[in-house]
Amino acid sequence: MDSIIIRGGRPLSGDIEIAGAKNAALALMPAALLSEEPLTLTNTPRLSDIATMTTLLQSLGAEVSALQDGRVQAMACHGEVNHVAEYDIVRKMRASNLVLGPLLARTGRAVVSLPGGCAIGARPMDIHIQGLEALGAEVALEDGYLHATAPRGLTGARVEFPFASVGATENVMMAATLARGTTVMTNTAREPEIVDLATCLRRMGARISGDGTGEITVEGVDRLHGATHPVVADRIELGTYMLAPVIAGGEVTCLGGRLDLIGAFAEKLDEAGVQVQETARGLHLARRNGRPRAVDVTTAPFPGFPTDLQAQMMAMLCFAEGTSVLEERIFENRFMHAPELTRMGAEIEVQGGTATVQGVAGLKGAPVMATDLRASVSLILAGLAAEGETQVNRVYHLDRGYEAVEDKLGGVGADIERVPGR
Ligand code: EPZ
Repeated sequence: MDSIIIRGGRPLSGDIEIAGAKNAALALMPAALLSEEPLTLTNTPRLSDIATMTTLLQSLGAEVSALQDGRVQAMACHGEVNHVAEYDIVRKMRASNLVLGPLLARTGRAVVSLPGGCAIGARPMDIHIQGLEALGAEVALEDGYLHATAPRGLTGARVEFPFASVGATENVMMAATLARGTTVMTNTAREPEIVDLATCLRRMGARISGDGTGEITVEGVDRLHGATHPVVADRIELGTYMLAPVIAGGEVTCLGGRLDLIGAFAEKLDEAGVQVQETARGLHLARRNGRPRAVDVTTAPFPGFPTDLQAQMMAMLCFAEGTSVLEERIFENRFMHAPELTRMGAEIEVQGGTATVQGVAGLKGAPVMATDLRASVSLILAGLAAEGETQVNRVYHLDRGYEAVEDKLGGVGADIERVPGR
């Protein structure tokens, strides 16, 4: 297993290219199952999760070709579709569950392994099931697999989500595009990735409105046609790299970054005394002197503070002036970066879903362990400003969601290298 070594203390300077959004691409790729015609995605990120989704779609009968060094995914699902998503693929990545809605809409049945829990939580699928049952599907759980059938096809209905689940919104929205009649979904997720998926589905001929507002209306159509769609910029990668100069000092422009993708996060940076400039090239941040101010953070569905930026924000708050309180309200176990940051000298106290961070003037490099995707990158961010050498182990977690992090940070002056696993 590879490690990444960072020698801290070097201010950053330059541009970082923001890639296409992992969490958009992982919902867009299964949309190829909804049509017999090809769906081509451009600006796709080069990540191991994309490779996992490729393997899954191929196991279902789709042809998937990575073109232009992985920046383009050309998919076609015109033949016989296999409706069974096997455990040994699904267990690797929860987002595999996003084939459930499309398979049901395309074939009238789906057998999808439950993804199982992961490091950050149990990750149940009750809201997905409730939504698909509202459209007329019958869903049963047998030996760890969800068996969903809609022998008479799906019928549009009113779907009231008990929680604004991103994945459930995506599964039900995709299924509703081919249902008979109209579906009205309320209390839906409003993330930019939902809007990006709706935009792509509209390009394929779907009739969707209200995406991004919390109430989505879908008028079912008989079939969807092929399309080409550019994946939206990754707001979580953007927020991650915006914090790099705040922690390490210097100035960085995140190319392709947009403020509308990171509303609440940018407001929190402003509260911490960090100026963000939106330019034609992207978002520019500079920190020349003085530590950021402590701020309190509570994670919430978009447009609230993103749970996927909580670990990275905690890394920054370890260096801030004052005491910060972070409330993690989305997942039940998403503070695993805290004990690793503590090994570097951070002062963090975790009580259930609340972490209290007492900012310190500096951290010391140490060997630390990556535990989940976003926790991994928070350790790298802390290493940028820590005194001495930080070695982050098990970086396969990182490679799921960050393209070539050592190249992107090395490209703006960080002393960072990847050491192949022994
Ligand atoms: C998506 O996961 C993202 N993944 C996650 O990003 C992100 O953290 C999450 O949304 C929240 O923003 C992808 O888009 C591929 P949810 P998803 O359904 O769809 C509970 C990353 O680091 N819940 O909104 O699985 C669930 O347990 C990943 O890139 C139910 O109880 O998130 C969780 O506590 C991590 N029942 C909360 O809702 C359900 O049926 C949010 O889940 C579904 C969800």
